[in-house]
Amino acid sequence: MGKLIVVTSGKGGVGKSTVSTGIASAFCSMNKSVLLVDADEGLRCLDLMLSISDKLVFDMGDILSGNVDIDKAVNKVDGEKSLYLLAAPSTPCSINGEAFGSLMFELQEKYDYVIVDCPAGIDDKYYVCLPKGSEFLIVTNCDAVSGRSAFEITSLLSTLGFVNKRLLLNRFDKKTARQFKVLVDDIIDNSGSRLLAVIPEDSQVKVAAAKGKALKLGRAAMALYRTAARIEGSDVPLPKLNKI
Ligand SMILES: Nc1ncnc2c1ncn2[C@@H]1O[C@H](COP(=O)(O)OP(=O)(O)O)[C@@H](O)[C@H]1O
Ligand SMILES: [Mg+2]
Repeated sequence: MGKLIVVTSGKGGVGKSTVSTGIASAFCSMNKSVLLVDADEGLRCLDLMLSISDKLVFDMGDILSGNVDIDKAVNKVDGEKSLYLLAAPSTPCSINGEAFGSLMFELQEKYDYVIVDCPAGIDDKYYVCLPKGSEFLIVTNCDAVSGRSAFEITSLLSTLGFVNKRLLLNRFDKKTARQFKVLVDDIIDNSGSRLLAVIPEDSQVKVAAAKGKALKLGRAAMALYRTAARIEGSDVPLPKLNKI
């Protein structure tokens, strides 16, 4: 049975899709089989970020409506050893929470890691029927708005009975943090989740996005590799914030 990792946030644009593809690629480099599930119905993006839009024939909506088998709707991502993508339905509001939860459970049996890239917002339908052992990565940035939405999503997940929730502080820029006296401890405390990783602001993210490839180079990629190693159970210490 593989692990189900759910990448989420209250606020949009904080880096969920970037983190999802980055840790997926890191797990592949550790010889794990990985399925990325794009759950952002109506606004899917992972197919574009991984340059496989042209290959898509079916998506998760076709599986949920019983039209095709899982294997037909899953696409291999070129250039990665064992990375697969299940695209989100192209129409909004087409995911049924119960069917979605059952599908994620079924997918866990086929891959070492199933990584779900969730839409922003606090709609509980994506979470309510997920297996209780799911691991949640709550992505936030340093600003107060994304910090508050991290707290909202953490609270929702706690109410639903999920215990495995970790905070991922993305786009950390030490100069800006110093200038505006951003206290990472406060961000962690206010989110209500324990910190798993700090990912730096890194121009390589834009380069990878422009090339349509998962992030592999640069400081953010290295931080995501360390994050994946921690999820794998390795004891990888957090570097000092001025070394990130
Ligand atoms: N660590 C980072 N450094 C620099 N830019 C980033 C980083 N993480 C995300 N971005 C940029 O932020 C924007 C939003 O990221 P995205 O992953 O699409 O967020 P979300 O999925 O939460 O909406 C994108 O333009 C992406 O390239
Ligand atoms: Mg996204």
